[in-house]
Amino acid sequence: MAIRWLPDTRVWILETNHSAYALGIHPEGWLQHLYWGSRLVDPGDYPEPGHEYRGSSFDVGLQPEEYPAWGGTRFGDPCLKVAYADGCRDLRLEVRGHEIAADGHHLAIHLADPHAPYGLEVTLHYGLVPAEDIVVRHAEIANGGGAPVDLETALSAAWNLPPGAYELWHLSGAWGAETQVQRQPLAGPGEVLLESRYGHTSHAANPFFALSPVGETGETAGRVWFGALAWSGNWRIGVRTTNDWTLVAGGVHDFDFRWRLDPGEVWRTPAFVGGFCQNGLGGMSRRLHRYQRRHVLPAAPTPFRPVLYNSWEATYFNVTQEGQAALADRAAEIGVELFVVDDGWFGTRDHDRRGLGDWTPNPAKFPLGLGPLAEHVERRGMRFGLWVEPEMVNPDSDLYRANPDWVFHFPHRPRSEHRHQLVLNFAREDVRTHIFGVLDRLLASHAVSFVKWDHNRPWTEPGWPAAPAERQREVWVRHVLGLYEVLDRLRAAHPAVTFESCAGGGGRVDLGILARTDQVWASDNTDAYDRLRIQEGFTLAYAPRTMMSWVTHSPTWANGRQLSLEYRFHVSMAGGLGIGDDITKWSDEEMSRAAGLVAQYKDIRPLVQAGDLHRIQSPRASDITALAYVAEDRSEAVLFVYRHRTGPMHPHTRTSAWVRLPGLDPDARYQVEGERVRLYHGGDLGALRPVSGTALAEVGLDVGGLNGDYASRVLRVRRA
Ligand code: DGJ
Repeated sequence: MAIRWLPDTRVWILETNHSAYALGIHPEGWLQHLYWGSRLVDPGDYPEPGHEYRGSSFDVGLQPEEYPAWGGTRFGDPCLKVAYADGCRDLRLEVRGHEIAADGHHLAIHLADPHAPYGLEVTLHYGLVPAEDIVVRHAEIANGGGAPVDLETALSAAWNLPPGAYELWHLSGAWGAETQVQRQPLAGPGEVLLESRYGHTSHAANPFFALSPVGETGETAGRVWFGALAWSGNWRIGVRTTNDWTLVAGGVHDFDFRWRLDPGEVWRTPAFVGGFCQNGLGGMSRRLHRYQRRHVLPAAPTPFRPVLYNSWEATYFNVTQEGQAALADRAAEIGVELFVVDDGWFGTRDHDRRGLGDWTPNPAKFPLGLGPLAEHVERRGMRFGLWVEPEMVNPDSDLYRANPDWVFHFPHRPRSEHRHQLVLNFAREDVRTHIFGVLDRLLASHAVSFVKWDHNRPWTEPGWPAAPAERQREVWVRHVLGLYEVLDRLRAAHPAVTFESCAGGGGRVDLGILARTDQVWASDNTDAYDRLRIQEGFTLAYAPRTMMSWVTHSPTWANGRQLSLEYRFHVSMAGGLGIGDDITKWSDEEMSRAAGLVAQYKDIRPLVQAGDLHRIQSPRASDITALAYVAEDRSEAVLFVYRHRTGPMHPHTRTSAWVRLPGLDPDARYQVEGERVRLYHGGDLGALRPVSGTALAEVGLDVGGLNGDYASRVLRVRRA
């Protein structure tokens, strides 16, 4: 499992545990993609460079290139398009050499423009993650010449698929309905463009794709090629089909993009992670989750995400020390480990029209500062956390009054407000220095050990008048790099603090932000039933341990649906559990049921947060949703079953669901814990006998006790 160079054929073969990726040098000197799919037994079986589709004078530009640069006969999406200072925009790249790292897991291929005075050099990087069958790609573009070069497109990578007809799986939606699974056949020639031009990753689309051969792939079997971008700004993933050739090119969006590369400067693209597996969408998700847990997420101060309480839906802006202290008392009673004060604690923030940007405690709400509340929370055995929205400012704030130039704006143009706020320009060093200083002091002085970092509007009028005209469009990228820089500095200065990414719910979920935040607020829609679909899509690409999910009020504000406390908990327990209702209003009986559910969550938490997800029945498919988390060593599992409405009057379907439980060791025997559970034709399993992993996967369980609409069960399964 390593990277090999075959000098005779001038081919590189990158092998992971189950997949292979091959590329080589075409006789004309360009870098040719050769193969991506299952590992082949014999190295001689991999295709060799040289073959090219050529027909009439119009049948050109069909070369399967590894990193297409625009110039010559190229008509598709280029990865790289430049303008040289002399006006030439025709870019040629030739292979100049390569290095393979000593561990055999990293390849760097050096390309250069053959016209030496231009000095343009491109290095393509390939990192291998063998256990997860993943290749991590990025590019570095260096200007070794004497004049500036303008980058007009500079994508991270292009992925060539084997010839064939594919269907595309992706995640899109809207605020309150993020990460909805979309399945779309690539019906013929043309391009499907997944993208964000909102400045942030966006609710509308997510930088993730999966492609599977039409009709072949389902949840548990079939080939799937997949990828995700590590970028939290404008992005594009273009999936272009030409006859039976499919090319996926992605990276920072080239819409309104321009990057000036002065002599000696280097542009490094974000990573584009790609993978291949034969185990269907389930196999893909498990690989992505493990990859994120092992290689992407920052080292966390606590091994598992704590159970948190968040004040937003309980108090909105009506935050007071007494009110929060009362909530904290109740939160501690049910076993909460982290108490988070959301929006409304700072400046003059009594509503969303003012105060944003003034990150000091509101003196009327907190006369002695945040110290007393933080101590109150800590005395009850919980950690203390705060909400901030550092990239934003209300015009009605001291920060904006003192620094009106710090926001995105164009001269002679209005500054559009959304939620009465404007976007601070993190491309500016003075803005970053100010925000870092304010947050650094806040974290140092108030025993804050958790930060929820929000972002509540898209960017408009992205002007940066203080920058030279030829560099102003870099603001799209420089803001995101500035955000990363501030987060990285804060993490380094406060290693015990955990961070949650939020953008009005799940508007900033991607591998870039997950490299520097521990968890994500997946959606403002806290209706537990809607959430099943949001969570299904979220976990298609992202690790369940990052997906925060709160138990909130019933009927929910989102749609008035009434759901039992148990159903709401069971949905939230499938990710990182939080509670967000006004728990001072919960009855003693509700408090005691909630305490039991929190304790149950703590018991299954290692499985949910570090186990392998198996989707058993999709909320899109029927009235039953089922999923399981299985320990990596397959010694135990937890099964979640949700019935959305009571079944027809038949003894097997009225109040029960027949659910298979895959993913366990087929030969080991397991005990299912829980009442009213049967093998389909058998007796009470819990009381009777352990059964094999094969029986659980093939025969399945008859899970009873699903009475009425929106009923749910959580069952523990352990090796006997
Ligand atoms: C949007 C977030 O998604 C909510 O959870 C809450 O933090 C509000 N912002 C506060 O303004």
